[in-house]
Amino acid sequence: MTKITSRKELEQYRKNLQKQKGSKNITISVCAGTGCLALKAQEVVDNFREEIKKHKLSANVEVKEAGCPGFCEKGALVVIHPEEINYIKVQPEDVAEIVSETIVKKKVIPRLLYTDPHSTKPIKKESDIPFYKHQKRILLGNNMKIDSKNIDDYILYGGYSALAKALFDMKPEEVLEEVKKSNLRGRGGGGFPTGRKWETTRNAQSDKKYVIVNCDEGDPGAFMDRALMEGNPHLVLEGLMIGGYAIGANEGFVYVRQEYPLAVENTEIAIKKLEELGLLGKNILGSGFDFTITVHRGAGAFVSGESSALMSAIEGRVGEPRPKYIHTAVSGLWNKPTCLNNVETWANVPLIINNGAAWFQKIGTENSKGTKIFSLVGKVNNTGLVEVPMGTTLREIIYTIGGGVPNGKKFKAVQTGGPSGGCLPEKYLDLPVDFDELYKVGSMMGSGGMIVMDEDTCMVDIARYFVNFLSQESCGKCIPCREGLRHMLRILNDLTTGEATEDDVKLLEELSEVVQLSSLCALGQSAPNPVLSTLQYFRDEYQAHINGECPAKVCKGLLTFTIDAAKCTGCGLCMKNCPVEAITGEKKTVHHINSDICIKCGNCYEVCKFNAVQKATGKQKKVVSVERR
Ligand SMILES: Cc1cc2nc3c(=O)[nH]c(=O)nc-3n(C[C@H](O)[C@H](O)[C@H](O)COP(=O)(O)O)c2cc1C
Ligand code: SF4
Ligand code: SF4
Ligand code: FES
Repeated sequence: MTKITSRKELEQYRKNLQKQKGSKNITISVCAGTGCLALKAQEVVDNFREEIKKHKLSANVEVKEAGCPGFCEKGALVVIHPEEINYIKVQPEDVAEIVSETIVKKKVIPRLLYTDPHSTKPIKKESDIPFYKHQKRILLGNNMKIDSKNIDDYILYGGYSALAKALFDMKPEEVLEEVKKSNLRGRGGGGFPTGRKWETTRNAQSDKKYVIVNCDEGDPGAFMDRALMEGNPHLVLEGLMIGGYAIGANEGFVYVRQEYPLAVENTEIAIKKLEELGLLGKNILGSGFDFTITVHRGAGAFVSGESSALMSAIEGRVGEPRPKYIHTAVSGLWNKPTCLNNVETWANVPLIINNGAAWFQKIGTENSKGTKIFSLVGKVNNTGLVEVPMGTTLREIIYTIGGGVPNGKKFKAVQTGGPSGGCLPEKYLDLPVDFDELYKVGSMMGSGGMIVMDEDTCMVDIARYFVNFLSQESCGKCIPCREGLRHMLRILNDLTTGEATEDDVKLLEELSEVVQLSSLCALGQSAPNPVLSTLQYFRDEYQAHINGECPAKVCKGLLTFTIDAAKCTGCGLCMKNCPVEAITGEKKTVHHINSDICIKCGNCYEVCKFNAVQKATGKQKKVVSVERR
């Protein structure tokens, strides 16, 4: 590969790519993200390549292994450009038909189109699907257009022009000023102003400085950083290089969790290609700026995403937080000034440099600028990654883009901000989502997790679930977090089995405050959020559990299963599905559940076709919780 040694050569390289691209006027983009690969996307790609060859269409048609656009539940996804025909749930055996019908005869295959559940009409174009139509995808938008393993694709769409602009048209201080003016706030959770963090590291006196991409993404259910790192790694790396230039750092790290093998692979490929082209290393584009990037694989602990813990891990030590009397921006990796930012934060930087701070300022709310990618999951029709301007309401995200709650169920709550976020009730559906608005109502942005819950969700059980997760993920270094969370979990377990009193709930609130105020790192400091927010908005459910009832009929310790003799046909299906032989009965006679044996798994309730199995709530015999055994 010839090296690109100047800005002019980079532009010439781009022009040549554009010329070559001109000859192929059809592109079949197959999403090759983790989700679609699990749904046979690689076979889909291979079949396309074979069919295109068979039909002698190689000169005109390009098959691209693209990045994830976020609608993973509909994978494997295929988009055919330039018409933007969007096919969902494509199977390897559909490929021959797509080529002969759509590519050759220009006919759309209705069976493979997305059908709008409201209008029940199939939609042909990707951008007309409500899930995409109401998003503003400035970060994710190119994922489906580019092959993340091919640097040429990124360069073709303007890649590294922001770096060139920064290196040749701007002094480092000017780059810093532009980022400060944009009011970009960190997307990793805290929403700290990025420019201010950069400035602290820039102003710190040291011979050596570092910049780091945080792609730990420990939040369960969140995958926005993975989608960017897998699907468009150069966008993140370009941001990192620009940051390095502005801050005065010549060395960068990308910390990616080991459980993201494709993100690791694509980042390593991207770095190798950059080195081959001369866009990394010494004297980049002849500007005099030197920069190297190393990938560090994280071991996959939630707490290791915390800044000081992550830096310990890169240094080869245990990934646990330390007191930050001096900020990592001043004394981080090997005690040198280090600027750590989230994947999405870095990805915004090339856009800000290319389009200017004023452009970025126009997107979002007064104090939260730009877009935010949310990982929309739970009881919602369209799950996936949603990129919207800050200030978009919860209702627009959950109903307009997410398509609402499935099966005609009632919305109950939405949890924002990952495991230590808060649960917000229906009255906040019109809340414009930004850093400050969420904080005001007892939740937070976090890194963008959004879990929708319907009427069948028990809010006490939800609080218990998250406290259990965080208690297991606590590094155990400080007592309030280690012991406090454990004790909170005990009380929550007692609530779900009907053994807690009002005094216990009082203690739960006190413990929440202590853990919040005295924990060493933000894991402990934010861990009580699910408890406090559910106590604030769903206190009646706590009271019901004290009274021995679980209103949503979820908590096993408070359930009883019986068989209604009037409805039971004696089909025996419940008996067949009972894992503990708690059901007895002869064929065609009324069956019976022995509640001394029943473990409340709910199988019989699910399988009975005659609604003969009844689920009731009310305090029963003592059920020993797993944690207490
Ligand atoms: C327990 C814990 C886990 C965290 N995990 C992540 C993570 O996975 N990704 C991330 O970007 N930030 C994570 N953070 C926040 C980081 O400590 C840090 O604030 C952030 O990466 C800074 O980037 P930003 O300024 O771009 O937001 C975590 C913080 C805590 C306390
Ligand atoms: S707050 Fe929890 S996770 Fe953080 S240092 Fe203390 S024990 Fe570890
Ligand atoms: S709830 Fe589960 S354990 Fe109990 S009777 Fe039904 S199938 Fe058996
Ligand atoms: S992995 Fe294919 S759409 Fe997300």
